[in-house]
Amino acid sequence: MTVDRASEVRLVLGNYVEPHHGRPLADVKAVKSVRLAGDRVVAEIELGFPADRYGPVLADTLSGLVSAVPGLGPVDVRVGWSVAAHAGAGRVQPLPGIANVIAVASGKGGVGKSTTAVNLALALALEGARVGLLDADIYGPSQPRMMGLVGERPTTRDGRRLEPPVAYGVRVMSIGFLIEEEQPMVWRGPMVTQALTQLLGDTNWGELDYLVVDMPPGTGDIQLTLTQRVPVSGAVIVTTPQDIALLDARKGLRMFQKVAVPVLGVVENMSTHVCSRCGHAEPVFGEGGGDRMAAQYGVALLGRLPLDIRIREQVDGGRPSVVADPDGPIGRAYLEMARRTAAGLAQVDAVRGAAAAPPVITVEDT
Ligand SMILES: Nc1ncnc2c1ncn2[C@@H]1O[C@H](COP(=O)(O)OP(=O)(O)OP(=O)(O)O)[C@@H](O)[C@H]1O
Ligand SMILES: [Mg+2]
Repeated sequence: MTVDRASEVRLVLGNYVEPHHGRPLADVKAVKSVRLAGDRVVAEIELGFPADRYGPVLADTLSGLVSAVPGLGPVDVRVGWSVAAHAGAGRVQPLPGIANVIAVASGKGGVGKSTTAVNLALALALEGARVGLLDADIYGPSQPRMMGLVGERPTTRDGRRLEPPVAYGVRVMSIGFLIEEEQPMVWRGPMVTQALTQLLGDTNWGELDYLVVDMPPGTGDIQLTLTQRVPVSGAVIVTTPQDIALLDARKGLRMFQKVAVPVLGVVENMSTHVCSRCGHAEPVFGEGGGDRMAAQYGVALLGRLPLDIRIREQVDGGRPSVVADPDGPIGRAYLEMARRTAAGLAQVDAVRGAAAAPPVITVEDT
């Protein structure tokens, strides 16, 4: 009788469709244990993505579900999490100490890639993960400003490796720390990839659950080489709903698919404009583009961020929305997006099992 109660609880928990995974907890093997302790049922859930803030919310939801079934309660649901490592595709060596590399990319510039990358990194950190942020946009480094680190210089302890400046718990490395802000970068492609792989390898990141890489905009040689040199575990494509931007974003998507880097999904940025006076929301760049693209290519829509002056003011002022207002609608949207991204990454191996071996790459001019 009592054993039955535990297995019934297991069934109820296992059937719950976890919104970030979009799948039942049983499918993602998140129900670790269900046992009886006196007259209570104790259930342990382990998520594959960081959830210091979300965990208690999920625990409440699940307790409510179980308690609603007559005869199953009382129940204690405990939600924990752990992040598994996902090596990059192909022959690239994983970076020591770095469990996952998430590339944030876009087909064209100015769509909010850097804004998305910083808020993603900060959201993962806020949920408890150990996070680094690499600004790979060598021509237009913006992370020092966005992370409030202008004027910082990396130090070195051993004369070999750079110690990354830290903001809001995230370790940041950018070419912007090493050059003057006004200094134009006139490097050619091979020098850029060389500089970047060095910046990546010569930084003392310590132990990281996630390294978020803000990729240079576009899908040319530099981007392609980077995806081959850096062990990327998964990619996030940022797009605006404009059709033209979407065409470019598709190129970004295909670039990662070509090198067998799993695309975790699409973030639709600036999807609606929210008027700061009246609060009216208007789809200035058209509607549903991210949805369509996600459906067409079979990838997830990870999030949808409005065109909102606060996003710009906060990120350009060095205090991105996730830090400035984590519980506001924008902060919550970023946290949600970050959890979906990490949840997608947690499922990558299952997906990758079916993927073909990386093909030989030829570089074409686009
Ligand atoms: N959802 C948003 N609402 C309002 N402003 C935004 C939003 N997203 C980004 N911005 C602003 O738009 C500008 C461009 O964003 P960002 O620098 O993140 O784009 P990017 O794709 O990285 O550009 P680049 O190609 O130059 O690297 C920034 O000033 C940023 O603050
Ligand atoms: Mg940028």
